[in-house]
Amino acid sequence: MDVYEAVMSRRAVRRFTGRDIPKEVLERVLFAANWTPSGSNLQSWNTYVVTGSPLAELKKRAGRRVAARDPWDEREYEMYPADLKSPYRERRSRFGHERYSALGIADGDWEASQRAASANWDCFGAPAALFCYIDRDLGVPQWADVGMYLQTVMLLLRGEGLHSCTQMAWSVYRKTVAEILSPPERLILFCGMSIGYEDVTESYVRTGRAPLNETVTFVDSTSQQLAQAAREGSLLGV
Ligand SMILES: Cc1cc2nc3c(=O)[nH]c(=O)nc-3n(C[C@H](O)[C@H](O)[C@H](O)COP(=O)(O)O)c2cc1C
Repeated sequence: MDVYEAVMSRRAVRRFTGRDIPKEVLERVLFAANWTPSGSNLQSWNTYVVTGSPLAELKKRAGRRVAARDPWDEREYEMYPADLKSPYRERRSRFGHERYSALGIADGDWEASQRAASANWDCFGAPAALFCYIDRDLGVPQWADVGMYLQTVMLLLRGEGLHSCTQMAWSVYRKTVAEILSPPERLILFCGMSIGYEDVTESYVRTGRAPLNETVTFVDSTSQQLAQAAREGSLLGV
């Protein structure tokens, strides 16, 4: 698969078949993903891959907590700033609207959206899950390295005909995840990732993106001349 096709065909898939993934496929993906670059080659990702009965047990325990409306574990990091500013606030609500209206859930129907979100802790039916941890002593640049690593994993999965959904949702039940994985105390759970073969009978709406000119600025001789002309125009009051 060509790189563009891998990037453009990756999306957050939220319904998988139960078809098992051969272990050698997951090993091949994670071996290649280990070549992700990182500042000073720190390689700050700590990955656990869970399948079979340990994953079934994790889903069962998390499902029990969801059903009991157990309070979420205290946060080790904030998923989003409390006061999300523009344009992020609008993008977040557009995403929520797109995701939940595709499921026939009306804006503001908190109960129904929570029911849909609870599929997170069943890994959307996936037969494999990856949990990515980072050392609590590392800083923002190393968290960015982990992000690059996760994207590399997701693209390689596409190369294997697999799909994925990265899930910060798992961080709210991090203690349940820790019961199964027993990670060292020095690690923080950043996110989980469900991995599997897409259930193609499930319809979906492709999540959109902001137009390029909202997120990318090209600085070249033409743009500089235009900026200069605009500045002179404003000085002349035209
Ligand atoms: C770090 C990260 C955490 C995410 N957490 C969740 C999650 O907990 N549950 C979920 O359903 N989707 C989650 N997503 C998926 C995003 O909602 C999705 O990537 C985004 O809306 C763009 O859609 P696309 O991936 O289909 O292009 C997460 C994505 C990332 C990168």
